[in-house]
Amino acid sequence: MNKTVLITGASSGIGLEFSKLFVRNGYNLIMVSQNEKNLEKAKRLVCMENDNAKIYAIAKNLAEPSAADEIFEYTKKNSIQIDVLVNNAGIQVYGKFYENKMDDLINLMYVNMVALTKLTRLFIDGMVKRREGKILNVASTGAFQPCPMNAAYCASKGYVLYLSEGMGAELKGTGVTVTALCPGATKTNFAKRANIEDIKLFRGRLLDPNRVAEIGYEALIKGESVVVTGLYNKLVAESVRFMPRKLVTKIGMNVMGR
Ligand SMILES: NC(=O)c1ccc[n+]([C@@H]2O[C@H](COP(=O)([O-])OP(=O)(O)OC[C@H]3O[C@@H](n4cnc5c(N)ncnc54)[C@H](OP(=O)(O)O)[C@@H]3O)[C@@H](O)[C@H]2O)c1
Repeated sequence: MNKTVLITGASSGIGLEFSKLFVRNGYNLIMVSQNEKNLEKAKRLVCMENDNAKIYAIAKNLAEPSAADEIFEYTKKNSIQIDVLVNNAGIQVYGKFYENKMDDLINLMYVNMVALTKLTRLFIDGMVKRREGKILNVASTGAFQPCPMNAAYCASKGYVLYLSEGMGAELKGTGVTVTALCPGATKTNFAKRANIEDIKLFRGRLLDPNRVAEIGYEALIKGESVVVTGLYNKLVAESVRFMPRKLVTKIGMNVMGR
């Protein structure tokens, strides 16, 4: 029987590339994202990768508190076992925190942290009982340091990274692994959605989302704990640990500026 992967944020960017990759590798797939039209369009694209794969699409707004429970109920009702969970959906709120809209900040916390935590907690029970399962959480290179002008986003990605590493250590010997994928700036709709394509970070060399998905997939299969995409991003992620915090935030302010 083919294994099934559930991917959030599957309709675009890195999530869409993950979807194609898993299906190409023989997995059945549940695609989750918010916009029904985009999701159906993405599903049609992914279907072309493998005629034999079973592909389901669930349109859910992960900023809704009940979204994760409803997704879990759907899999139970349809007797679908989730072997791999990819928590990929993520949004950002650009600008000074004291000027950010409260609703945008709440949505960010729900999509980036609450939904990810709930989905992980709901699906991990079955994985641990079966002594088999894999989880991939998409964090960011922003998880390694505080980030002015994107403070809540980087804080949420720090949460994703720490949660993944912490629970990963607890899971040793259970047959279940957790991988945190930390991409640097990547060529997707992500910057466009937040209207920040012109900031310095996105004017540099951007990674291709298919390459990011490949790196994540390989790390997930090997059961690696943390993977940072690209040599430059790896160097930056490592070097900030040795820099004075004031310098780190100063560089961050510059990189996130226009
Ligand atoms: N691109 C980068 O530079 C970069 C760098 C580091 C980390 N990341 C992380 O990589 C992950 C994927 O981002 P991406 O670059 O591929 O972005 P993207 O192209 O904007 O895709 C985001 C995906 O998340 C879904 N999504 C957004 N809000 C949602 C909600 N409320 N409910 C359900 N689904 C929702 C979107 O679906 P709809 O279209 O239906 O809203 C879409 O499928 C995110 O976690 C992001 O933080 C990205």
